[in-house]
Amino acid sequence: MRTRISTAATAATATLLLALPLAAQADPFPNADHAAGKDMHARLCVECHERKYGGEDGSAIYLRPDRRVTTPSALSQQLTACTTMLNLDLFPEDEHHLAGYLNKLYYKFE
Ligand code: HEC
Repeated sequence: MRTRISTAATAATATLLLALPLAAQADPFPNADHAAGKDMHARLCVECHERKYGGEDGSAIYLRPDRRVTTPSALSQQLTACTTMLNLDLFPEDEHHLAGYLNKLYYKFE
């Protein structure tokens, strides 16, 4: 009996220890290099968004009330749609940095 109780307690503790780091990891784009994302965004993305949607820094497209992106995966998809349209052929990790940067600044998904 003693053994069973302590096993259950151990299992509960283990579950708790496993769940805690997962709960803490709220960032949908973990370890994105925001500085790299910012740099690529300024070079590759701002000019066209600004021309089409305004906002001094091209931010209006991300902040418009009817924006398309409402989930982290939609952000990745729309971002890929733009880079594909542009024939940019970015590495997946570069798209990850861009998504992380845009999420941190505008979308703030957790
Ligand atoms: C040649 C023009 C152009 C360039 C360059 C461009 N985009 Fe876009 N982007 C658009 C247009 C147009 C839309 C709006 C699409 C729509 O509403 O149907 C858009 C929308 C988006 C959205 C969704 C905004 C929302 O509604 O929430 C994201 C995210 C995005 N672009 C990311 C990027 C990134 C990252 C880059 C640079 C790598 C980039 N785009 C470069 C034209 C461009």
